[in-house]
Amino acid sequence: MKEEQRMSREKVKVTFMPDDKSIYVGKGISILKASELAGITISSLCGGRGLCGKCKVQVSGVDKSPSAAELKLLSQDEIKMGVRLACSFPLEEDTVVVVPNESREKRVSILQEGLKLGEFHLQSDLSKVYMEVEQPTLYNQSSDLERLERALRERGFAPVELSGNLIRELPEKIRSSDYSLTAAIIGNKVISLEKGDTTQKAFGVAIDIGTTTLVGYLMDLNSGRQISVASKVNPQRVYGSDVMSRAAQVSERPELIETMQALVMSAINEIIDHLISDSGVKEDYIYKMTIVGNTCMQHLFLGVSPKYLALAPYSPVFSRAIRVSAKELGLHINPDGYVHLLPSLAGFVGADTMGMILSTLIHRSDKIKLAIDLGTNGEIVLGSKDGLTACSAAAGPAFEGEHIQCGMIAAPGAIDRVIIHDDVYIHTIGDAPSIGICGSGLIDAIAEMRKAGIIHERGRLICEDETKFVKRFKSGKDGNQFVISYGSEKNKTPPW
Ligand code: FES
Repeated sequence: MKEEQRMSREKVKVTFMPDDKSIYVGKGISILKASELAGITISSLCGGRGLCGKCKVQVSGVDKSPSAAELKLLSQDEIKMGVRLACSFPLEEDTVVVVPNESREKRVSILQEGLKLGEFHLQSDLSKVYMEVEQPTLYNQSSDLERLERALRERGFAPVELSGNLIRELPEKIRSSDYSLTAAIIGNKVISLEKGDTTQKAFGVAIDIGTTTLVGYLMDLNSGRQISVASKVNPQRVYGSDVMSRAAQVSERPELIETMQALVMSAINEIIDHLISDSGVKEDYIYKMTIVGNTCMQHLFLGVSPKYLALAPYSPVFSRAIRVSAKELGLHINPDGYVHLLPSLAGFVGADTMGMILSTLIHRSDKIKLAIDLGTNGEIVLGSKDGLTACSAAAGPAFEGEHIQCGMIAAPGAIDRVIIHDDVYIHTIGDAPSIGICGSGLIDAIAEMRKAGIIHERGRLICEDETKFVKRFKSGKDGNQFVISYGSEKNKTPPW
């Protein structure tokens, strides 16, 4: 009891409902920050900058004037009911916060299936060479290193370099393997010496760092076969759902670069751990990792500030291909292995687009083709072997509902299909009661409303008394509104 009283003098107690979870936090921190500390994930598409309006919570018994962001994003009725923005509400006293289902981060389905590649010629700069190294005798007292280099030279690998670590381990490695061992070589550098013949064990990991999701593939570097796949939500999402939000966050708080890098590294390591446990492949046999991502994600992966990407003239810190040692980044692959970042094409056309070009071979096509990468940051490439043109646009808001009052990510409860006939019929993901509308639902809704004459060709809502949907019109803060679903409505199957 005494401890609780002491804590409450220095801090304030916040209780999250209906979780019934209480924690003490420093006075003045936002409800959003407190929720992170309590392990409760509140949607924060704009990264807590008071722009998206997705972090609505209910606070009772606290008399505090609404912030400018709250006045802009909340209706008067909501404010009267105690609805506040978690990111704009500093905790000054003990507070009970109700987090409604609509404001919680949803589990998302992650697309792991990729393009089915046709025949391709595998080119890897990794070689694994099995050799039998001469044993020393009283008549052949050449050094271990010389005898190893000779064995490699006989197999066409010379000159080669060994790290200080490998040279230190060499005498024991060579003898414990009874002079029969395999060298893993990248370029002219020996990165691993292994007992016996391990030439069949050569693996790499490819990681696609999306703004929203991360997907990793374990690849056999002998056959080019995909062995396993795993994915995770990008944990940097709490700092904003799009690249501009994250770049803006690190501009305001440079210390976040380290945090965001640590978050993505730990998520990638979890993916690798999953790939390893799923396949039984040992970490030491994974020698290479290739990373693609948009330019901002590549910067954050290396702990480089993307600050200037968000400011005109939108110049990245680096755009060419980069190779880094796995040890330097603390990744769960062979520590002497390498991590390759593909080159970006421009500030907002990143290495993921380069990956798309290379995998679709659009750059070798005789005919003009169009390739589209529809992610949170969407890129389009048009062209042929005679030249390519690429550009990008933020596609995330359309899919995730940012800046759409009832918009949400494609999670259970999102309206993903709309049909308008004699009435309005909806389909929700997971057959759950409707709590918002996702990108495909929005496209359906607009197309169906246009077909049904509810929307004018110039985008205006047509609210006329004689229309059969007149009951679905209501007036809101910004003018007429059309109700697609009355709260918590479940799927309404059309009667045909
Ligand atoms: S408005 Fe609060 S997180 Fe966006």
